[in-house]
Amino acid sequence: MSDRGHEIYDVVGIGFGPSNLSLAIAIEEYGAGGPGNGISSLFFERQASFGWHRNMLLPSATMQISFLKDLVTIRNPTSSFSFVAYLQASGRLPQFVNKQDFFPTRREFHSYLEWAQARVSDRVAYGSEVTSIRLPAGEAPDHLLLEIADDTGRRMVGARNVVISTGLVPSLPEGIDRDERVWHSCDFLEQYRRMNPRILRRVAVAGAGQSAAEITRFLYDELPHAEVYAVIPSYGYSVADDTPFANQVFDRAAVDDFYFGTEQTREAFWRYHRNTNYSVVDDEVIRELYRRSYDDDVLGVRRLRFLNLTRVTGAKRAGEETRISLQAGEDGEVRELDVDALVCATGYRAMEPAGLLGDLDRHCLRDEAGRYQVDRDYRLVTVPEVRCGIYLQGGTEHTHGLISSLLSAIAVRSGEIVESIVSRRVGDNVDGAVPAEAGSDLR
Ligand code: FDA
Ligand code: NAP
Repeated sequence: MSDRGHEIYDVVGIGFGPSNLSLAIAIEEYGAGGPGNGISSLFFERQASFGWHRNMLLPSATMQISFLKDLVTIRNPTSSFSFVAYLQASGRLPQFVNKQDFFPTRREFHSYLEWAQARVSDRVAYGSEVTSIRLPAGEAPDHLLLEIADDTGRRMVGARNVVISTGLVPSLPEGIDRDERVWHSCDFLEQYRRMNPRILRRVAVAGAGQSAAEITRFLYDELPHAEVYAVIPSYGYSVADDTPFANQVFDRAAVDDFYFGTEQTREAFWRYHRNTNYSVVDDEVIRELYRRSYDDDVLGVRRLRFLNLTRVTGAKRAGEETRISLQAGEDGEVRELDVDALVCATGYRAMEPAGLLGDLDRHCLRDEAGRYQVDRDYRLVTVPEVRCGIYLQGGTEHTHGLISSLLSAIAVRSGEIVESIVSRRVGDNVDGAVPAEAGSDLR
């Protein structure tokens, strides 16, 4: 396996969130399918230990998908890595069933993910950031080189296939930078815990999505002495559509319909079903916030203040306080408000692999709009000289649709990636032919 001083693996995963955790399990289950199924793999995660959006593990936050859309079940309902298997191992299966609820808390789901990762952790290097990927010297090399930075320095590993799964990129309003009083929701709990809560007498939360609504509810409950300003671009929070027909957009068939559809089909998916996920809030959280606002009315206090049809357009320090600029509508007058902290729950951009790919990026083909061309099996389309696979888990909204950044995708997508790696490997050995049964252990 070793070549010029570095190990070479069949698969190297970059990032170890739920997507690559699901892939590690799919590789393990494929390997257990029979002799000769072994796929060597190693995953790199820059965090010191496993963590899934830890700074948003708010006490009552629940999952936005059914527990059955865990790391494995949709791909392999009999997997020992399912949420149900975790409940059994934790001794809570009957209690969970009695609860009659499809949506566990995020804290419980996090505990499930930790349980699952512990079972594959021999293939994960934590505290290890992949800083670049490149082609080794020589003609049509059969592996890529990855540079890893960890607390011992820098090292290289080789990969016949790379699976990039580095997650969403936090997005702040233009011109606003994070500091100790201006936070993005992805840093929320860490920043909040650093503060003396008594100092927080007036806080603002920008955004009308799930993160904003959950943080607004949390601050209102945790800071009984404080005013909480919710700065929302809409007139009121819009509900996330998770009704059964709409949920079909997350099925495997919908990925095919999106991928093989026309430009108009793809546009229709986004136009009609963006409200399954973006800038929307769970019905229950909306109602809880409204109830709090109504209780304020009854008590004649106004702690929860909604600044609707408004966006935050700037933030600057004014002594101990942060002065934020608020604009109602594009041409609206700009007002200022002094707050002790501003939380920008202003969403995320899609995963962007260009930084990691560096010079290799120019070997990846793009469409007319400048977006990566991606095969149905999530493999970047490259020039033929690049023989190795570069797969994306995330960042494929333009090719695979709404599901790309969501957990709904991961069980099936991981299986599809393993199938692709296996069938291409077999195909390589027999002069390009890809046997139909390759990877069938994963179905
Ligand atoms: P994720 O972001 O989880 O993991 C990426 C990992 O890569 C991180 O651990 C990061 O540290 C690591 N990394 C990045 N660069 C690296 C590098 N160069 N080297 C090494 N490691 C690197 N979706 C859903 O379907 N249902 C839900 O309930 C929720 N809930 C939810 C809550 C919150 C607060 C957010 C912000 C988002 C969600 N989501 C969601 C959507 C979310 O994208 C999804 O749940 C997963 O996080 C996707 O998992 P990934 O593994 O792809 O990315
Ligand atoms: P989001 O859905 O993209 O929402 C971002 C919000 O910020 C939008 O309402 C946006 O309005 C608003 N915004 C942008 N710029 C603004 C500005 N300058 N001033 C005021 N508002 C501004 O992001 P999110 O809420 O972080 O959700 C991201 C993903 O995480 C979703 O998939 C969500 O479901 C998930 N999530 C899940 C949970 C959970 O599982 N419990 C919790 C949190 C998040 P416009 O749309 O008008 O720009």
